[in-house]
Amino acid sequence: MASSTPSKPKWATVKTTLPVRPLPLNSMRVPVTTDRLIIRALAAEDLDSLHLLRSQPEVMINTPQGRPDKDIDETRPKLEFFLPPKDDAHYNFAVCLKETGEMIGIGGCHQLKSIFGWPAMGYMFRKEFWGKGYATEFTKGWLDMWCKLPREEAEVEVDQRSFPEGDEKAVEIMTAFTSAENLASQNVLSKAGFERFLDWEDADLRNPDAQITLVAYRYFPSKHVAN
Ligand SMILES: CC(C)(COP(=O)(O)OP(=O)(O)OC[C@H]1O[C@@H](n2cnc3c(N)ncnc32)[C@H](O)[C@@H]1OP(=O)(O)O)[C@@H](O)C(=O)NCCC(=O)NCCS
Repeated sequence: MASSTPSKPKWATVKTTLPVRPLPLNSMRVPVTTDRLIIRALAAEDLDSLHLLRSQPEVMINTPQGRPDKDIDETRPKLEFFLPPKDDAHYNFAVCLKETGEMIGIGGCHQLKSIFGWPAMGYMFRKEFWGKGYATEFTKGWLDMWCKLPREEAEVEVDQRSFPEGDEKAVEIMTAFTSAENLASQNVLSKAGFERFLDWEDADLRNPDAQITLVAYRYFPSKHVAN
């Protein structure tokens, strides 16, 4: 259940589990197929496809940048962020059509420690491919990959507002965030098994003078049912 009243972070160091670090490097990631998609490691050759995606205003309005990349030179570091030698710091992938191999989006864990202290996942797809269930199919497939990673004990500083009420145990959590306006993304998260746990007002990174309502979702890897 989402809380509608703003509240302050309640930080605590907890014992939990997380995927073993370092995460599998891009070169170790075996492509995974779902009904219609291939989820594979990002590569330097994806620059043009990523630029195409990041050139669409309808896509970029929902990112903190809020606007399309100006040119391919602005896209390049966005891709390099997910390539060696930085590939141990995320679990982000290219999402391609199984039939043609065309890259239609990206998604996965782009942040191992988000504002609640837990890893966070996200996705973006080219607008021509919206409304066909691809983001939901990807998110379910990717969660399966994330949940199958070997686990280790971990001590993490997390915001306790991410725990279910009355839950004393720090069960591992994957988080995701959307703006309150992004109903499509909220639908994707709900359909993939996330639950909404907090709404709050924050600075709108796209416009320093404005506030935005953000919505936080959580997913429990230990409750995951394999696809
Ligand atoms: C959000 C996004 C990934 C959704 O991708 P998608 O492939 O269209 O998603 P799906 O088809 O799997 O599911 C979308 C769901 O939202 C619904 N939906 C779409 N637009 C909606 C709207 N304006 N209001 C309510 N529901 C909406 C769809 O009907 C669908 O639900 P259904 O299957 O129950 O009908 C895509 O729009 C996108 O890339 N947006 C730009 C980047 C972005 O917002 N990323 C997420 C940041 S948190």
